[in-house]
Amino acid sequence: MELWSAMSKRRSVRNFSILPPSDAMIEKLLEAARAAPSAGGLGSRKVFVVKAESKRRALADACHGQEFVAQAHVVLLFCADLDRITPYGDRGRNLYCIQDVAASVQNVLLRAVDIGLGACWVGAFDEGTVSEIIGLKEGIRPLALVPVGYEA
Ligand SMILES: Cc1cc2nc3c(=O)[nH]c(=O)nc-3n(C[C@H](O)[C@H](O)[C@H](O)COP(=O)(O)O)c2cc1C
Repeated sequence: MELWSAMSKRRSVRNFSILPPSDAMIEKLLEAARAAPSAGGLGSRKVFVVKAESKRRALADACHGQEFVAQAHVVLLFCADLDRITPYGDRGRNLYCIQDVAASVQNVLLRAVDIGLGACWVGAFDEGTVSEIIGLKEGIRPLALVPVGYEA
């Protein structure tokens, strides 16, 4: 799909089919995340793929009851890696790693459109609760959730 076509078609999808996206499709999304620019090429971000229903359910609750987070078969969790960005000091921790994550989220949203999937950027959640659900170690800050799937 042409780039502008994907950009202009992209919109937030919050209603997902029971048909799960394939692992190959998820790999394409992760590839898109990795292709995004990152400050100093440090890649100060991590993406977790969440498939377990119990965890998606718990994540939906941590997102203040945004049910579509549990409905999607796959939820991508985008995190900043605060340790990896330390060469850039406070500006790295407070800005660059967040921008790194944002760039990769946008890449993924566009790639999702490109391969026929729908997705939504979800930022409203309790960070501490999400960290506990996924078992994030210190220095890994959850910044965005992206439920993905076929639109219902
Ligand atoms: C930083 C950020 C946080 C967002 N958080 C949420 C969210 O928690 N829940 C949600 O349903 N949509 C969320 N959105 C999606 C926006 O609501 C959506 O992009 C906006 O309404 C425009 O609609 P569109 O994406 O269909 O163009 C978020 C978007 C951004 C960029």
